[in-house]
Amino acid sequence: MPQARAAVILAAGKGVRMRSARSKVLHEVGGRSMLAWSVAAARAAGVERIVVVHARDGAEVEAAAKALGCATAVQTEQLGTGNAVQSAREALGGFTGAVVVLFADTPLISPKTLTDAFARIEGGAAVAVVGFHPAAPGSYGRLIVGANGELLRIVEASDATPQELEVGHCNSGVLAAGAADLFAFLAEVKNDNRKKEYYLTDVVAVARRKGRRAGVVDADEAEVLGVNSRVDLAAAEKAFQERARAAALEAGVTLVAPETVFFSYDTVIGPDAVIEPNVVFGPGVTVEGGAVVHSFTHITESVVRAKAELGPFARLRPGSDVGPGAKVGNFVELKKTKLGAGAKASHLTYLGDAIVGAKANIGAGTITCNYDGYTKSPTVIGEGAFIGSDTSLVAPVTVGARAYTGAGSVITENVPDDALAVARGRQSNVEGWSIRFRAKHPGKSHD
Ligand code: UD1
Ligand code: CA
Repeated sequence: MPQARAAVILAAGKGVRMRSARSKVLHEVGGRSMLAWSVAAARAAGVERIVVVHARDGAEVEAAAKALGCATAVQTEQLGTGNAVQSAREALGGFTGAVVVLFADTPLISPKTLTDAFARIEGGAAVAVVGFHPAAPGSYGRLIVGANGELLRIVEASDATPQELEVGHCNSGVLAAGAADLFAFLAEVKNDNRKKEYYLTDVVAVARRKGRRAGVVDADEAEVLGVNSRVDLAAAEKAFQERARAAALEAGVTLVAPETVFFSYDTVIGPDAVIEPNVVFGPGVTVEGGAVVHSFTHITESVVRAKAELGPFARLRPGSDVGPGAKVGNFVELKKTKLGAGAKASHLTYLGDAIVGAKANIGAGTITCNYDGYTKSPTVIGEGAFIGSDTSLVAPVTVGARAYTGAGSVITENVPDDALAVARGRQSNVEGWSIRFRAKHPGKSHD
């Protein structure tokens, strides 16, 4: 029978091997913190109540957890994973459903695996552990399984016999149990081991002693990869990117060289979009179907509508919206700018805080001067307007529909619909000036 679901996320470890001023679990994979990954996985598995356990000096983690809508609890001393879970008891406030324990340094765990673990508890097991078969079992805890496939106990590598170390089936750290069972079992866990810690893993042996059952749910190694160092962080990033690339290809996106395209956790790309090599998607990007993103383009928090074309070497900064069939060419930067359908900014341009009407053409070298050092001001360009090359648009300013600006103009006043605005020094030609000038330097040449 489905039960209410809660999660306890452990994040009280020191993470010393990261050599970082920032808490380990706030380091990012695919553009979001490892803590946020754990929270999202739990929620996707139907968890409503989440308690994040942090250390006494974990103010940064506490703030991040609260911002993610989680309750928090303090583990005053790092006495082990079992003790950390006990610290969450009060914050769970008498919760009676099923609890899954997650490590905040294991970001890629899938909601499906968590759902499978919950299902074991609902099916009558007292404890469900997520196991895996790592390429190198090393320091992972070993799962000791009986002849009938039931989990008997977990032994930490530091306490294992040479024979137990031969076991390749390992503990990912993720574990589910009914709330009442979990705390009852933890109350019986002792710290009589090499590290003198209260191990969460010991609840399995306690459950067995009480005549209860424990089971294992297996996951892929890439999913349960634990991050303890920058090397592990890079490995988690790699695993995430591989997963994201495979998903994009599966969804009908062309990636010419998948291994060179970098995604964020929330990147959305529609079918028949073409992504050329060396493109980076920061967080918050949607690219609609049929759009083409040429090489070396970098996009963050922006929307690229159907059949639009970007780059090569385009940069979309937060708040940009490139309309259907619009074009953003090489060395063009957009910030908080909306390009209407079919509008074009093909070369060497900066558009910030701007609204550009449909089919407008922005000439090479156009700059919106949107910032005076204190405030940002808007530029509005009407439909079908034609901005001459090297125009500076000094915001706030509006260029009307179908209006033109002369090349090299500095536009400081609004331009009416259908007008031509020219704002530059008039050219004067001085006849024969060069002949007279050269005559002053006999015998010399500048070339
Ligand atoms: C743990 C498991 C091991 C498993 C491995 C998987 C235990 C006893 N061992 O070992 O079986 O194979 O993870 O990666 O559970 N933490 C606290 N408070 C503490 C101690 C740890 O919050 O007092 C948190 C850490 O921040 C971390 C997690 O718990 O997120 C795991 O702790 P860690 O010390 O890394 O456990 P391992 O030795 O890796
Ligand atoms: Ca660990």
